[in-house]
Amino acid sequence: MKIKLSLLVIAFLAVSKLFGQGTDNCVTSVILSGYSEKAYISEPITVQQLDLILKCGIKAPSGKNIQPWKFTVIKDETTMKEIIKDVVPGNVLIIVSGIVTENGTTPDFDCGLATESMFVAAHSVGLGARIYSGPAGIINSNKELFQIPSGYMAVVALRIGNIDKSVDAVSAASPRKKFEEVVNYKN
Ligand SMILES: Cc1cc2nc3c(=O)[nH]c(=O)nc-3n(C[C@H](O)[C@H](O)[C@H](O)COP(=O)(O)O)c2cc1C
Repeated sequence: MKIKLSLLVIAFLAVSKLFGQGTDNCVTSVILSGYSEKAYISEPITVQQLDLILKCGIKAPSGKNIQPWKFTVIKDETTMKEIIKDVVPGNVLIIVSGIVTENGTTPDFDCGLATESMFVAAHSVGLGARIYSGPAGIINSNKELFQIPSGYMAVVALRIGNIDKSVDAVSAASPRKKFEEVVNYKN
């Protein structure tokens, strides 16, 4: 009887692990161990990796499912360097642009969700990623050069690439505020 019960418990744990019902799983591990890499190596990412990352961006949720984004992929080193100075060959930049609304804003929140999905997807396949909003002005001041579709404005650039695996992910990540500082439970 005891053996049967133990087997049942083991089977339950295995199934919950498989379907991500436990408290830790591959998605949460990727999120909790990720950071915004700076140390890249010049090994190109594969077409399959890039496709998967873009598909994850496209799958992001958006208000009213408007999907107000366009993704412009830049692989050419000279063009990338116009945006981020220290890119290395093999890096890829994905410019996430939002559709310009009637009041002149872009749906930044939706673009942010798509960017985060791609950031997590890149880490999940062992690549590094970093989000850059700083160069949005440079990109928007020369939309033709970067081929930003008409009616859209760049919100962020996502840099992805192979990374120096000797960098310690824990010490490389920026510290976060304490749990108690940012979470409150209403009584
Ligand atoms: C919206 C947004 C804009 C960012 N812009 C820049 C940027 O322009 N330049 C840069 O070096 N990092 C940029 N970052 C990266 C942040 O600095 C980084 O995510 C933060 O410091 C946390 O670091 P960690 O992910 O390594 O822990 C940006 C991140 C976000 C989410």
